[in-house]
This record gives sequence, structure tokens and C-alpha cells, in this order.
Amino acid sequence: MKKISVSMMCADFLNLEKDIRAFEGLGIEYLHIDIMDGSFVPNISFGAPMVRSLAGKTRLPFDIHLMVTEPGRYAADFVTDNTEYITVHAEAAVHLDRTLRLVKSLGVKCGVALNPATPPEALDYVLDAVDQVLVMSVNPGFGGQSFIPASLEKIKRLAGLREERGLDFKIGVDGGISRVNVLDATEAGAEIIIAGSAILNASDPEAELRAFDEIFGGARQ
Ligand code: DX5
Ligand code: ZN
Repeated sequence: MKKISVSMMCADFLNLEKDIRAFEGLGIEYLHIDIMDGSFVPNISFGAPMVRSLAGKTRLPFDIHLMVTEPGRYAADFVTDNTEYITVHAEAAVHLDRTLRLVKSLGVKCGVALNPATPPEALDYVLDAVDQVLVMSVNPGFGGQSFIPASLEKIKRLAGLREERGLDFKIGVDGGISRVNVLDATEAGAEIIIAGSAILNASDPEAELRAFDEIFGGARQ
């Protein structure tokens, strides 16, 4: 079961509503919303007021990716009727266990993201508390970067750990996903596929999404 989550950072900011209608029509499963603070990552995207405005415009669930230092200070601001996941970075939360508990207490699913250099072992003592592990397959901060191949090994190890421990968290993969590597990522064990530039910068986004579906053998839902 694969789900596609389209990164809104790569959408047309002056025509977000139009883009969202198109995504709804294309049957994508999530809107991936990248929040960047210019401190944890070297870029600034947008903040909670924008996310609340989007929430009024669609029924698509939100998958919020907080690339901010001290994510626990801001998580509550991103709870909307649409918010399904709030994902924080393991590297950004000094008290990761506390932050994950806080996210759960907000009534949403909690995710934890790992930068390319962070091993799965960083999550050893919190893995049973998370609903999603988001494997960053680029160094976070920008869309349109190249996929880092070592991410596949990390996804496999996480899938192995999940099996070993009888857990049921989802594995997401974020960064540089395109039709060239999406099958490798899903075969390694990723179920939530975040795609930004590959779909949104394509001359025909719908055709690009259909190409992804064909690669999955139509097994998306
Ligand atoms: C990277 C972000 C991603 C990214 C996706 O910092 O978290 O969600 O913008 O865009 P592409 O698919 O272009 O890498
Ligand atoms: Zn992201």
C-alpha cells in the first residue's frame, strides 16, 4: 500500500487553491507541508497561518514536516481538522521522547524524521511510540535535490527493525523522489512517498503521477 504525498513547497504559491484542486482530482493521498525556520534548515518556507488557510480549502489530509528547532514549541500551531501527521526531526528535538508525547497529546499521529547522517539507532528507545519514520533522502531545506542512494539501506533497516519488534509505524521517504528511484524506495519498504519537484515541475503533472502509478503496478491506495 503506497501513498503519495505531494510537497506543497514546490507548488505555485500564488495559485495554491488551483493546485490543490488538481491534486484532489489526481487522487493523491496527502498534502506534504514543509515548515522551514531558517535555523534548523537554511531556508524559510511558510508558517501556521498559511497552513490554517489551506485547511479551510480542502479535505485532503495534511502531513506536516516540521524542519524547525525546538519543534515542541510550535507543534500545536499546526493542528487543524486536516492534520493527520506532525513529523519532527530527531536532530531538532533535544527531548525527543517528550516532544513525541506532546505531538500525540495533540490528537494527531506523530512522525519522526531522520536526516541523511542520522542512523535508525537514534530512535531505538522511541520507535514503539511513533506512527511514521520519515527517512530524508536529501539534506532538508530545498526541493529539487538529488536522491541520496544510502537512504535505501536505511529504509531497509527500519523495515527490518519494525518486523523484528512487531511494530506498525509507516515508513516515509522524502527528497529527490522521481520515477527513476521510486520503485527502489518502495521495494526497500517505504509506504508514504513524498514527491515535490518531480510531479509539480513536470510539464504534465498528471502524466507524471500516472507514471508513478504504473511503476507501482497500480498498487496505490
Ligand atoms: C526537503 C523537503 C522535501 C522536498 C521535496 O527539505 O522536506 O519535502 O521539498 O521536494 P523534492 O521531491 O523536489 O525533493
Ligand atoms: Zn518534507
